[in-house]
Amino acid sequence: MREPEGRLCAAGLVLLLVLAVAQSAFRFPRRYTPDWRSLDSRPLPTWFDEAKFGVFVHWGVFSVPAWGSEWFWWHWQGQPQPQYQRFMRENYPPDFSYADFGPQFTARFFQPDDWADLFQASGAKYVVFTTKHHEGFTNWPSSVSWNWNSKDLGPHRDLVGELGAAVRKRNMRYGLYHSLLEWFHPLYLLDKKNGFKTQNFVSAKTMPELYDLVNRYKPDVIWSDGDWECPDTYWNSTNFLSWLYNDSPVKDEVVVNDRWGENCSCHHGGYYNCQDKYSPQSLPKHKWEMCTSIDERSWGYRRDMAISDITSEFEIISELVQTVSLGGNYLLNIGPTKDGLIAPIFQERLLAVGKWLNVNGEAIYASKPWKVQSEKNTTSLWYTAKESNVYATFLHWPEGRVLSLESPISTSKTKVTMLGIQEELKWTKNPSGGLLIFLPLLSPSALPVEFAWTVKLTGVK
Ligand SMILES: *[C@@H]1O[C@H](CO)[C@@H](O)[C@H](O)[C@H]1NC(C)=O
Ligand SMILES: *[C@@H]1O[C@H](CO)[C@@H](O)[C@H](O)[C@H]1NC(C)=O
Ligand SMILES: *[C@@H]1O[C@H](CO)[C@@H](O)[C@H](O)[C@H]1NC(C)=O
Repeated sequence: MREPEGRLCAAGLVLLLVLAVAQSAFRFPRRYTPDWRSLDSRPLPTWFDEAKFGVFVHWGVFSVPAWGSEWFWWHWQGQPQPQYQRFMRENYPPDFSYADFGPQFTARFFQPDDWADLFQASGAKYVVFTTKHHEGFTNWPSSVSWNWNSKDLGPHRDLVGELGAAVRKRNMRYGLYHSLLEWFHPLYLLDKKNGFKTQNFVSAKTMPELYDLVNRYKPDVIWSDGDWECPDTYWNSTNFLSWLYNDSPVKDEVVVNDRWGENCSCHHGGYYNCQDKYSPQSLPKHKWEMCTSIDERSWGYRRDMAISDITSEFEIISELVQTVSLGGNYLLNIGPTKDGLIAPIFQERLLAVGKWLNVNGEAIYASKPWKVQSEKNTTSLWYTAKESNVYATFLHWPEGRVLSLESPISTSKTKVTMLGIQEELKWTKNPSGGLLIFLPLLSPSALPVEFAWTVKLTGVK
């Protein structure tokens, strides 16, 4: 009587053990510990690498003076620069404070659906929005930013929530920019005075706001910034990130950048931004993103913008092409006005990217770096690959309409087409190896795009 029961028990135990092992291996995702070794080992959710192009939006109280840059407050009162002090003297009463700009941040004409339509038409797959810049003003009703948030003051609206809803309605991913530091927050200044040995600011402001942003808006990206004055241990970054990766409502899809404390950038976190406008010259080992601004001198809107400060369409497309070829994402910034309008020059540039991507997006979205990124001695021809196709985007139309490619090796199955044009292109073997491609004889108006054309190669090695 007893024996069979015992055997049954043993068999049951073995079964349980097998189940437990199977569960821990397949069912339950691994858990991350709050240290960089563990956090850095998390695979980046695949959507981010496939997205390739995003729009960055800098909007806040700095959009009210809209002069110089979004660092206005710092240049006026942090490390004063004479031209900022003169600007204030000449345009505002003597006792005017930065806080007095708050009520003038009206967002009166802010139509989140119009913005999102524009971003979608630009071909962006994600949008990153400033929830709070170094000035500390929150674009959402933060309960720990009393009277210095967009619900109590100025717009009296939840800007982060409204834009998020409009962006997601159009199937774009939604990322949140968040500054860890606040230049003039009394608790931050107190911690700074203590050599960052106390964490009053982090426990009263930074952490509550980061958790609130994640739980409330479920971001796809946390674009961290303002980390550089203190180590990640002060910011409690690894504790926050282990919660984000293990237990948060966005644990499977969220991606983060690398600005989580002094010396983190380019070394730790999710993908790497390294420094602003980072643009490596060869293929990095780690996923990265180039962030840059259409107005070369500012991220926030400024009224003193000149046409010579505006990045040309050609430069923007060239940067996008080079970035993607080198394995990066391209995040292009605009700064709306205080009343929520996007200057036509920014609209024009974004629409130009969209028009180009409409024709050439096949070579960009979800592509991978190829075995080589560009031909020797040139920065005007860039390769990407997808499935068995190789794409070569050339920025300048070659003299004599003959495009010479050194790296692809032709086979008996080689076919060449140009994106946006129906017929196959003629080609021969390049005497030096590679291919000579005879581009179509077309009038400029019949070309699919004005610059940066893509040839698609199938059956090459
Ligand atoms: C840092 O994170 C840990 C774990 O979540 C928490 O217990 C601690 O209170 C946090 N410290 C601060 C200063 O926020
Ligand atoms: C960051 O790097 C600098 C230069 O190597 C070093 O002096 C500093 O101690 C580092 N800070 C931290 C927090 O590791
Ligand atoms: C490329 O540069 C190398 C070294 O500077 C030079 O020897 C070579 O001739 C160049 N090739 C072309 C096609 O210009």
